[in-house]
Amino acid sequence: MASILSSLPGIPSGGPVRGLECRSSEEMVDFYRREFGQAPLLVLSNREPIVWEGAGALSSPPGGVSSTIHRLLGRVGGKWIALRDSAGPGLLRIPPPREASDSPGYILHRLSLDPGLREAHYAGFSNGVLWPFFHGDQGRIDASPGTFSAYVQVNRRMAGKVVESLATLSPGAVWIHDYQLALVAREIRRMAGNTLPPLAFFWHIPWVDIPEPSGLPWLCELVDGLLCHDRVGFQTEGYRDLFLKTVRLLHGTRVFWDGERLSVMTQAGIRTLSLGVYPVSIDPAHFDRLSRDPEGVRGAREILREAGLLKKGEEIAPYLVSVERMDYSKGFLERTAILEELFTRHPERIGTLSLLQVAPPSRQSVEAYRQYAGQVQRAVDRLNARFGRPGWTPVRTISRSLSQEVLAPLYRFASGALITATKDGMNLVAKEFLACQRGRDGVLFLSRHTGAAQTMDGLTLIDPFDAPLSARLIHQGLSLDPEIRRRKNGLALSSIERNNVFRWMRDNLRALGDFSVPVGR
Ligand code: G6P
Repeated sequence: MASILSSLPGIPSGGPVRGLECRSSEEMVDFYRREFGQAPLLVLSNREPIVWEGAGALSSPPGGVSSTIHRLLGRVGGKWIALRDSAGPGLLRIPPPREASDSPGYILHRLSLDPGLREAHYAGFSNGVLWPFFHGDQGRIDASPGTFSAYVQVNRRMAGKVVESLATLSPGAVWIHDYQLALVAREIRRMAGNTLPPLAFFWHIPWVDIPEPSGLPWLCELVDGLLCHDRVGFQTEGYRDLFLKTVRLLHGTRVFWDGERLSVMTQAGIRTLSLGVYPVSIDPAHFDRLSRDPEGVRGAREILREAGLLKKGEEIAPYLVSVERMDYSKGFLERTAILEELFTRHPERIGTLSLLQVAPPSRQSVEAYRQYAGQVQRAVDRLNARFGRPGWTPVRTISRSLSQEVLAPLYRFASGALITATKDGMNLVAKEFLACQRGRDGVLFLSRHTGAAQTMDGLTLIDPFDAPLSARLIHQGLSLDPEIRRRKNGLALSSIERNNVFRWMRDNLRALGDFSVPVGR
């Protein structure tokens, strides 16, 4: 092992950088310039960062990871390649952000696919196989024939666009996102060899324990596809270690890991890459600002009125808030069971504490999602029928997405947030809630099965698989001295401030050029 490692070029650590702050968009751009000079950036994702609203009007989400990358790209210039989600031209020139109007902006290349291929990639393999597999929900896997080949084709098409782009663009790095695009780097290397800019990948979802990976041919391809990057980032150490375990099970003694870099002897030669742990995050100051903005506050009060949570005299009734896509991995049924326990064991909560559940529909072309939405509806109806009282409903559901302007004050006004994901790569709602609770005593009840639970201090962790325990923790948490609650929130918020989304981006891209090692060198 020593001789192979010593034959590899010296590679610096991908770990945190001390004394180099990155707390704002400005500092992120400075970091980028120091790292890559004037070179542009090339980003790939399944979804587009903006929505074409017609007649040249674009809307972009006001926060979130995608919009942070969108802002960086607008400042440093480059290209974003994504599968097309809305109408409009195939190429869009995205203007720079308003606050930096002399920046280059970037090109959005929107790859159009035949609807059958798109569906087989999206609903078929990505969300019919990969999503349930990596969320530990084997019973929901629907491996229809041909969907993996659609997945490969779409990844190849994306790779083709990258290779085409490299003829005219010399990016400092190519940054690829998520499980829908895990084979793009492999396809790029097949098409263009190894003289390439550094290829970075971020795996946003969990990695799971896979006792027998060699029995799953698609998984072997996926893992080897991930090894084709120069850096792969994971949300938590746990997920990274499970990935390493899978690599070891597949490649046995040909795997060398020194805590930062991974080398695998493949038939083509030695692949060396860095494996990093970079918990995805938010810009807490942005959410804090939004939570107090008068227009958002007005919008939030309207939602509370719609949900029956504004009492006479406009006082807000106590509520817990949950915000997520209608996805089985978010534990909606487990959440209902927890509330049932809470109202049974602590009847004093009946009539005095509701749940406001913001749950936009998701992935409706996937059968498992349609079925799940129906089950959730029935469970909520049962709960409401059992515990509801005239003028009070235990669970209010808003089945559409709300803008961050409205969500932020809804987080701020809440007595708590209830996050019951049975498995989640990170869970940014937890961080958004805390950012909006600055100086307040709303309690975050966070599932221990989320990445967020592994990466913050001062949390009240619940277990969606243990309804009695979770109900007890909720009751106790809400009964705690408000000062203690505020202090716990402050502690958790300071971890988010240290590990904000700008730092996440910096750590993903830092020293990447030094990892760009051709196969076999
Ligand atoms: C997760 C995935 C993203 C995905 C998002 C929404 O966060 O990591 O890749 O875009 O869910 O899912 P959707 O299928 O609507 O894109």
